Amino acid sequence: QELSRKDRLLRVLSLAKSWFQDQLRSSVGVEALNYLMKTRQLNKGTIDSFELGYAPQSWDGLITYMNHVESISSELLVEAGLVVPRKSENGFYDRFRNRLIVPINDRQGRVIGFGGRSLDGSDPKYLNSPETELFEKGKHLFGLDKAANAIRKADKAIVVEGYFDVIALHSAGINNSVAALGTALSSQQIKQLCRCSDSKRIILNFDTDSAGIRAANRAIGEVEHLAMQGQLELRILQLPSSKDPDEYLQDHSDLDYKVLADNSPLWLDWQIDQILKDSDLSKADHFQRAVSGLVQLLGKLPQSALRSHYLQKVAELLSGGQARLALQLEEDLRNQI
Ligand code: UTP
Ligand code: MN
Ligand code: MN
Ligand code: MN
Ligand code: MN
Repeated sequence: QELSRKDRLLRVLSLAKSWFQDQLRSSVGVEALNYLMKTRQLNKGTIDSFELGYAPQSWDGLITYMNHVESISSELLVEAGLVVPRKSENGFYDRFRNRLIVPINDRQGRVIGFGGRSLDGSDPKYLNSPETELFEKGKHLFGLDKAANAIRKADKAIVVEGYFDVIALHSAGINNSVAALGTALSSQQIKQLCRCSDSKRIILNFDTDSAGIRAANRAIGEVEHLAMQGQLELRILQLPSSKDPDEYLQDHSDLDYKVLADNSPLWLDWQIDQILKDSDLSKADHFQRAVSGLVQLLGKLPQSALRSHYLQKVAELLSGGQARLALQLEEDLRNQI
């Protein structure tokens, strides 16, 4: 029976996943396995459940296996994003070499692509499958196949940046977590999450660095229309003192994490805080910048109880600064006389 093109690609990806898993367990994978267990503190159960693998240091390990053992053509491997045609000469080479392999599954748990983490410091840190007809980055969430039930049960989803953030969270029993695959979080990904839970509560826990803050702001931009209409409860979690959830869980418990997650601020409170946190409201330029930022932020809110609430809050936050500013001005004027 003829397989459809899509089914053939799925089969190739699944065969590759198994081959990468076998390599991790063979003698060529010793260092990679060591990295997972010692450096990343993962146990065998987690490594198995995420079906982690290893792509050996070789230009044609996967190609040779696929061509000769599975009778799969190099052209089909190119379509699957696993091998790359050579530019100048004939032939092909393996895309993933000396990398830890993280399979990326669709909602049904079928592998549609891979993330490959460099083990020797070479760039890029993560090499991912190219976009194929199966693998469209803005559409999928890493870990959703394993998280969907937990999201339904907890009635909320945690969205993080990275593969290993999801892996660390799941391994700590926080199974309602997924990753946005290096993107900010698209409206399509949000829709997928919303289908999993009734109350549509999402906690964004991006990295505590400028890239993570930028990504959080961009993600908010994607969904603020839903959040403003009360169709989504969006909270922003920024972990103190750790860069990302994986690092945080190296020296904190799952309970510590849950407490922080449950107490994380709503997106508007977080954005207000972002605007105010580095401003000294007794300085005129800071005050002006803060006011215009806040006006821009709150101006987007439709007339509602929510808007009144935030206008009140912001007025209170600014009034202290305004009073100090007035005092400062008065004093400056007095000194001039
Ligand atoms: P980070 O740079 O925060 O990496 O990127 P990480 O996940 O914390 O990496 P570790 O802990 O050092 O292994 C977050 C995510 O962005 C994507 C990956 O999905 C990564 O997990 N990314 C990052 C890429 O696709 N390519 C890159 O070169 C870097
Ligand atoms: Mn799909
Ligand atoms: Mn990051
Ligand atoms: Mn990170
Ligand atoms: Mn990390």
